[in-house]
Amino acid sequence: MNIIDGKKIAKQIREDIANEVKTFERPPGLAVLLVGEDPASAVYVRNKELACIEAGFFSDKIMKSENTAQEELLDEIERLNNNPRIDGILVQLPLPSHIDANKVIEHISPDKDIDGFHSENIGKLAQNKSNLRPCTPKGIMTMLASIGCEVRGKDCVVVGASNIVGRPMALELLNAGGTVTICNSKTKDPAEKTRNADIVVVGVGIPKLVKGDWIKDGAIVIDVGINRLDDGSLVGDVDFDAIKQKAAGITPVPGGVGPMTIATLLENTVIAYKESL
Ligand code: GUN
Repeated sequence: MNIIDGKKIAKQIREDIANEVKTFERPPGLAVLLVGEDPASAVYVRNKELACIEAGFFSDKIMKSENTAQEELLDEIERLNNNPRIDGILVQLPLPSHIDANKVIEHISPDKDIDGFHSENIGKLAQNKSNLRPCTPKGIMTMLASIGCEVRGKDCVVVGASNIVGRPMALELLNAGGTVTICNSKTKDPAEKTRNADIVVVGVGIPKLVKGDWIKDGAIVIDVGINRLDDGSLVGDVDFDAIKQKAAGITPVPGGVGPMTIATLLENTVIAYKESL
């Protein structure tokens, strides 16, 4: 079968990191800030915390109530910027609507921005010079490399143009020598774009948007979506059952991209730790 086992690839990365961390003088430190009670965010933050602890990191989880003032959050980030035990700062998104997420991200020291969302790090990514690259797209690049998928010279289509996934994903594929098309919600005929692609990455948050006939035989399909249906089940942004018949490789949901994001977060924290020495 052609199912890309992100969980297995991520497990190996996490084990390698845990072994490397044993040789460090001090544990790498990651602070995760969660504002509000969004249940999905709470699960993601919990998983990140567990991964940190398992890898031997120092993990600081900071929970703030939904009505936390922006100033208080900026003060907290300032403290973390100045804390020598903390190498990485992650603010879980989305933030409540009264908070300007961009302002918060820009307040994180670029050296501790392990999400790679600060404009300085995104600017460097656009120049193919970034040290701290957004975790989900970077994790997808690791996954493509580990299955032997060469990006150079390939036609790549990214569906979705978010700051977290689509835009940095397009830059990653471009940096790797791909020919990249980005579809957004205004794209006239996205199926016509994806149908010609060798590599398709989808991150839109619409259950099963990408149908079987959107994908050509032998393509690699990466599904970043995690959508909970009314019956409680989780599905991605692509119609997995229809596409697995024809794709050369496809990521499942769950167990595909999600575990890679967490493994990459650990990788980035180690990079920030090493830079701090
Ligand atoms: N929310 C959804 N994905 C992410 C991510 O990669 N980082 C952060 N900070 N928040 C997210």
